[in-house]
Amino acid sequence: MASADQLKALFKSHLDGDEQHFYSVAMQVAAHEARKGHGKLAEELRALIDEAKRRSGPKQPTPISRPRGELAGLLAASYPKGRLADMVLDTVLEEKIQRVIREQRHAARILAHGLAPRRKLLLVGPPGTGKTMTASVLAGELGLPLFQVRLDGLITKLMGETAAKLRQIFEATGQTKGVYFFDEFDAIGSQRGLANDVGEIRRVLNSFLQMIEQDQSHSLILAATNHAEILDHALFRRFDDVLHYQLPEQDQSAALLRARLTRYAGKGVAWKHLAETAAGLSYAELTRAADEVIKEAVMQQREEVSEAEIQMALEERRRLMARLYQVV
Ligand SMILES: Nc1ncnc2c1ncn2[C@@H]1O[C@H](COP(=O)(O)OP(=O)(O)O)[C@@H](O)[C@H]1O
Ligand SMILES: [Mg+2]
Repeated sequence: MASADQLKALFKSHLDGDEQHFYSVAMQVAAHEARKGHGKLAEELRALIDEAKRRSGPKQPTPISRPRGELAGLLAASYPKGRLADMVLDTVLEEKIQRVIREQRHAARILAHGLAPRRKLLLVGPPGTGKTMTASVLAGELGLPLFQVRLDGLITKLMGETAAKLRQIFEATGQTKGVYFFDEFDAIGSQRGLANDVGEIRRVLNSFLQMIEQDQSHSLILAATNHAEILDHALFRRFDDVLHYQLPEQDQSAALLRARLTRYAGKGVAWKHLAETAAGLSYAELTRAADEVIKEAVMQQREEVSEAEIQMALEERRRLMARLYQVV
């Protein structure tokens, strides 16, 4: 017989409309029976599951869930359509993201063997390198809603309140499967009024990390930070994987410009050469420079952009960034 926990999980996932989770628990029950020597029952269960899956046809995306009540102020829901192919990535990072997607796609099978697919990820790297984009690509590829945690809603003057709100979010991860994205999570705990109390900040941050560690849901939990220096080993331990983002190398800058502009630029544009001009710019800044060029062409009702224009837009971006960094 299925354990009490399995029965509860079956009922709950059915009532929540979480089909995937329902199947994965059902498979666990079948595996459990098989281990106990109830081969025939296990076979019958598997056949029932296969039949149900077949009848439900191609996988429907989970219907969009609108956070209600207090959660609405804490989570911004969206349903992104992004794809991994839209991103320019170094091979290590690309393989890591691909692995997360593969493991999620085979989650039912992995869980049926008593293992867990990767789902708690730490994203580290400078601004404009694709951390937020990764959260939306994972949601897009997996057909899951993206829930961006609103730090402004989360962080209050009172530490106890922040912790209670965090707890609400971690209840939601079990109720609605999705990609939960804590952007700039290092700001948690650093609320005004406590800013000088390092001990207090540490405590809120620690309770957040503990909640991540204790989370037993099937949701993906992503935490992103621009500050690599805050990483210590205690932090790594809580996550299934750490993704490191970097500014683009020349090849990657060229790839991004080409992907963005190839439709407008004539043949024979020296992308490599343009990428040299772009050295030091992030993916986000490259994207903005490319969009400026397209915008200008669109306004003038031109179908084409020239290499010189792209060059100028990149130089302008670089000057802008140089000035910004001087000020800071
Ligand atoms: N690796 C990348 N590949 C393609 N486009 C990117 C990449 N990184 C950033 N971008 C572009 O820059 C925009 C902002 O990037 P974002 O993901 O918000 O960066 P981060 O969260 O690391 O600060 C994205 O919406 C996308 O248009
Ligand atoms: Mg971001």
